[in-house]
Amino acid sequence: MEIFVVPDAAAIGAVAAGIIAAVVRSKPDAVLGVATGGSPLPVYAALAGHRLDLSRVRAFALDEYVGLPAGHPESYGEVVRREVTERLGLDPGHVRVPAGGAEDPERAAVEYDTSIRAAGGIDLQLLGIGHNGHIAFNEPGSALDSRTRVETLAARTREANARYFGSLSEVPERCITQGLGTIMEARHLLLVVHGQDKAAILAEALSGPVSAECPASVLQRHPHVTVVADESAASQLAPEKAGVTVRVAGPAISV
Ligand code: PGA
Repeated sequence: MEIFVVPDAAAIGAVAAGIIAAVVRSKPDAVLGVATGGSPLPVYAALAGHRLDLSRVRAFALDEYVGLPAGHPESYGEVVRREVTERLGLDPGHVRVPAGGAEDPERAAVEYDTSIRAAGGIDLQLLGIGHNGHIAFNEPGSALDSRTRVETLAARTREANARYFGSLSEVPERCITQGLGTIMEARHLLLVVHGQDKAAILAEALSGPVSAECPASVLQRHPHVTVVADESAASQLAPEKAGVTVRVAGPAISV
């Protein structure tokens, strides 16, 4: 595992975008796993600055709410359309988001999992981490080998995401999320983490026991993980852990 510690969110974006750009330059039809929430936004902003041709890239989102009306601005389908597809110039036909509005969301989840495999698997998966250790919407208690499925959002997740909605009651209670086992099949995982409020959970995920109680801890079992964190988020990490390389880098780092 490689950890880049950088000064701020803009530097997280610069370093992570550099990693993504390198993947796309070497494989113009790469399959990217894209994330929503606040953490990836500086990454997309920095990637837009690279002016790369992403028209052949294929992308899969990590998750989607169940129960939002079609076209709801906070559905991840819409967020991905705005922040990724349009901003970065992907072909909309190459971008998939779980079908949260499907009549049978369980079946849609299974089909989504299958479609990732059919695309040849994900070359690089961008990830954020929730305050409770979730990745995608795999809340504490999720099986480490879980597949894409319908899940119930944790109260803490709904509270965190209420900032995007008018009120807590408007945040959906269910979602379709890629499973931990699904995410672990991506060939490279890129975790971006920002802010003091994520310091304790990041340390637990990277240095604590691998446990369903902290779903992100499963990353310790993946052979190719890159973490890009700002100094606040990295402040509780134990860099001496075996197998972990920590690089302290400014925004000008080139990767
Ligand atoms: P955030 O969410 O980037 O908005 O903090 C991360 C997550 O919940 O995965």
